[in-house]
Amino acid sequence: MPATSHGRVLPPGTARRAPGPSGSVSVDVMRIHVVDHPLVAHKLTTLRDKRTDSPTFRRLADELVTLLAYEATRDVRTEQVDIETPVTATTGVRLSHPRPLVVPILRAGLGMLDGMVRLLPTAEVGFMGMVRNEETYAAHTYATRMPDDLSGRQVYVVDPMLATGGTLVAAIRELIKRGADDVTAICLLAAPEGVAVMEKELAGTPVTVVTAAVDERLNEARYIVPGLGDAGDRMYGTA
Ligand code: URA
Repeated sequence: MPATSHGRVLPPGTARRAPGPSGSVSVDVMRIHVVDHPLVAHKLTTLRDKRTDSPTFRRLADELVTLLAYEATRDVRTEQVDIETPVTATTGVRLSHPRPLVVPILRAGLGMLDGMVRLLPTAEVGFMGMVRNEETYAAHTYATRMPDDLSGRQVYVVDPMLATGGTLVAAIRELIKRGADDVTAICLLAAPEGVAVMEKELAGTPVTVVTAAVDERLNEARYIVPGLGDAGDRMYGTA
């Protein structure tokens, strides 16, 4: 399997498709990174379990996001700074400007926001409200709140389930239209069908997907199998 042991994303063209629970896939410029770590697998298993209640689900999703975000921000832009320690002058790095933007896709992406900003406290936060039409499965945007001009910005878009790919494709197109030049989607789970749609629809764009697992397939209702059910319902107890 072409994944590196510590979950590094491989450069485009060096990885083969590696379906299954872990590994890295790189196609054109879109990169899929499955974070291969026992803590990630452990938390994901508890999220999948239908006996896990909403408070526990929210806490685990939050913890899982932080682990995924650690890998997803491996290429976050930094600049050099001069500082003085109590002992001597030295140089270090800090996050550079413009600040990264974190965009949760409402509703379920909200449950991933705290985990993201815990790691990136200086990030700006935008919001996109999207629903899928349950008959056509097409994504529809009902609210957007973020800067019009995203030129030169790194954007982290968070949505727990990459199922058909329709929502993320629409969201990422909007971000790129506003000038974002580096977009990373962080998803708890992905379906191979959704990954294929993203690869096709976003080919040639600077997009990376980071996820805890690529599952088997979508079912006829477009739920991920084995999946974890409806992420929003599980988070907010509306099942
Ligand atoms: N959205 C969800 O919440 N779960 C799925 O399995 C697919 C889409």
